[in-house]
Amino acid sequence: MAFPMGSKYREVSLRTATDYSSAIQLLEALPVFLSGDEHKKRRKSMALVYAQTRKLQEKAIAQVVDEVGQSIEHRHGAFNLIDELSIPLWTALRNVICSESREVKDLASELPDLFYPGLSPRKRKRLNNKLADILKSGNGQLLNQIALLTLGVRPFSSSLALSIHKIARDNDGKRLCEIEFPTSFPDSALTYVDRISMRDTVVDGCPFSAGSRIRCITFDPSYSEENNSKQLYGIGSHTCLGRPISDYTWIRLSNILSQSQKTIHPNALSVEHREPFTIPTKCLVDFK
Ligand code: HEM
Repeated sequence: MAFPMGSKYREVSLRTATDYSSAIQLLEALPVFLSGDEHKKRRKSMALVYAQTRKLQEKAIAQVVDEVGQSIEHRHGAFNLIDELSIPLWTALRNVICSESREVKDLASELPDLFYPGLSPRKRKRLNNKLADILKSGNGQLLNQIALLTLGVRPFSSSLALSIHKIARDNDGKRLCEIEFPTSFPDSALTYVDRISMRDTVVDGCPFSAGSRIRCITFDPSYSEENNSKQLYGIGSHTCLGRPISDYTWIRLSNILSQSQKTIHPNALSVEHREPFTIPTKCLVDFK
């Protein structure tokens, strides 16, 4: 069963006498943290909102990919994979998925910090309060739109930057047109999902007691490319809802890049581990 993040917040809220009600409202609307019928219901509701803009998402992504391709063609030197690739692509996607104000969309980019165990109580409370203000005034689809952005922002934007940097490390100095691009993201910002064992069980010889937390790895450099691409978006009933547009983005981007005569070279990379995500804070390559 899924890890019940909302219940954990309820416990902390009671123990510390802190109001986290809006954070709980969001967490209990996120399918990743739900199981059974509740999960099915929430997933369906979000899938409908996602599907409404499916064609527009592709159009918006295609346009930004073309612009990125042009800017690479005119570059001789450093290219910032965060500012010039992942942020513009995510901004295009989020603007199509969510019709709310920029303030709402910016908050949604911070909301994944609610999953981060190391977040200070002060920042947790700040996010809760900002979310409370926004949920008060929202329309019927607001929660679904915020939920999609919250779950999509870090895997999408960070995996894009990390993946192109990985291509540069693996193909230092090669012409883009000579690189065999993988059919799926070669690196991921989200490498595991947690589950709760419903009964005493044994998986691959490892015993798990009922109620224990199990970390299921979805991506690891030691796994084969084939295994990683199979599990990148999770497996089973919780499989990623944003997979179609993420796959589309990767294919479109690698197609554009693979037509270029430019060479690619890795430059600076630094990352921050904000569980469960690995977020690049500096991610540069050179195109020459
Ligand atoms: C490269 C990009 C992405 C990667 C690697 C990725 C990865 C994942 C993974 C591993 C899960 C968990 C599956 C599980 O619990 O078994 C997941 C769930 C989810 N993702 Fe993504 N994701 C990406 C992009 C997106 C985008 C762009 C969106 C939304 C616009 C999105 C929305 C969701 C949702 C709603 C779920 C929850 C599904 C459920 O629990 O039923 N994802 N994703």
